[in-house]
Amino acid sequence: MNNDILKTLYSKKDIEVACKRLANEITEYYQGKESPLVVGVLKGAVIFMTDVIRQVDAYVDMDFIDVSSYHGTTKSSGKVDLVTDINSDPKGRDILIMEDIVDTGRTLKFLIENLTKRGAKSVKVCTLLDKPEGRVVDTHSDFTGFQVPNEFVVGYGLDYEEKYRNLPYIGVLKPEIYQNN
Ligand code: PRP
Repeated sequence: MNNDILKTLYSKKDIEVACKRLANEITEYYQGKESPLVVGVLKGAVIFMTDVIRQVDAYVDMDFIDVSSYHGTTKSSGKVDLVTDINSDPKGRDILIMEDIVDTGRTLKFLIENLTKRGAKSVKVCTLLDKPEGRVVDTHSDFTGFQVPNEFVVGYGLDYEEKYRNLPYIGVLKPEIYQNN
């Protein structure tokens, strides 16, 4: 698997440092507030979410939502599908969405609108990666790990055709891996 990677963008150590910083920011932000509902966006955010919230010193509830628009490919289909909803009622809750990456912004916009319409008290966003050059809709994250260049990245939750999520670092895939598809 490691041989498919052209270069490392963020090492395991870089990611550890970012997770700790984000956990500190989240701990500080939610001090004195009701326990937020932390919503991980399946599947990409699972690894990141578990690394961050274990270092958050505040009461939090956990839930997951599954939305998909890339269907395992390198290009967004432009349509966000809700695959599996959260179990909790978002009404009146402070929600913290955990994402692995904000690229076109379509997924995040869909989630913020969906949860707001259902009566969430507040919706904040924590993402490991933000790719501003990819943006096609207006949205932003409140807690951000790294701003990434406009390259297709994999690892630490991010996939290509469902593979590479288990790489412990974030890297750029060799073009020949996806060029023939
Ligand atoms: C990826 C990623 C984000 C979203 C970001 O999910 O995990 O949720 O795309 O892209 P956007 O800003 O262009 O909407 P994907 O749909 O590939 O599902 P996955 O997490 O299961 O891989």
